[in-house]
Amino acid sequence: MTFDASHLISATWIDAVEHHGELDSTQNRARAAAAELPREGSLLVVADRQSAGRGRGANRWWTGEGSLAFSLLFDPTRFELPRRAVPQVSLAAGVALVDTVAPVVGDHPPGLHWPNDVYAADRKLAGVLVDVLPDGRHIVGVGINTNSALADVPDELRESIATLHWLTGRLVDHGELLLAFLEQFAVALRMLAQAPLQLGARFNELCLQHGQVLTVRNGAERTTGRCAGIAPDGALLLDTDRGRRAFYSGTLR
Ligand code: BTN
Repeated sequence: MTFDASHLISATWIDAVEHHGELDSTQNRARAAAAELPREGSLLVVADRQSAGRGRGANRWWTGEGSLAFSLLFDPTRFELPRRAVPQVSLAAGVALVDTVAPVVGDHPPGLHWPNDVYAADRKLAGVLVDVLPDGRHIVGVGINTNSALADVPDELRESIATLHWLTGRLVDHGELLLAFLEQFAVALRMLAQAPLQLGARFNELCLQHGQVLTVRNGAERTTGRCAGIAPDGALLLDTDRGRRAFYSGTLR
């Protein structure tokens, strides 16, 4: 994969770019790099392949030939957000991802599964993992299934994931996709800082799970209910036997 790192730096809010042929995980590399960088500096780490890509929870993330995998290290105060962990940053990343891929996928409008999985044609197209460092800096990791052919996807994933190539028959330019995401993410983070309820409303519009029966797992606790959408503050709303419950974290089953 080729892209112009200096153009990304001059055209966006990113201060430095690392492009690796292979890493275990861009998330791990960004975490290691954070120790050597000034707190106010932002870094984009891109890898063509990941040997141990991480998903949310205990999941792994497949990064095949032709996938786009990257992590962004930044200080949220850059966007006038508080330095403490901001759970809605992960929602902002999901909204930004949808706005990035929507012009590419055309006939297959993408949407969101809470907290930030991007789906198109009923299959998972992209995912986001957010790590927060002890000093408050965020590492937002994004994996997008871009140019892989479905034939090259591992058997166990072939029925459940979409790639942009499978959806459109075309190859996408990773540099253009990165540029678009960085712009859209900045827009979403500013919305989060200035009009957070608007971001929740946008997420609710994009949420594909309205009316579905979902189970949220939080540690040992499991709660099942019918999805009533996303609250303005970003919580997942479930109508359960005991009334409406709001979830700010947890994994879905
Ligand atoms: C999920 O859907 O479970 C989150 C997937 C996040 C994958 C990305 S790929 C780039 C970054 N590096 C990783 O190891 N994981 C994230």
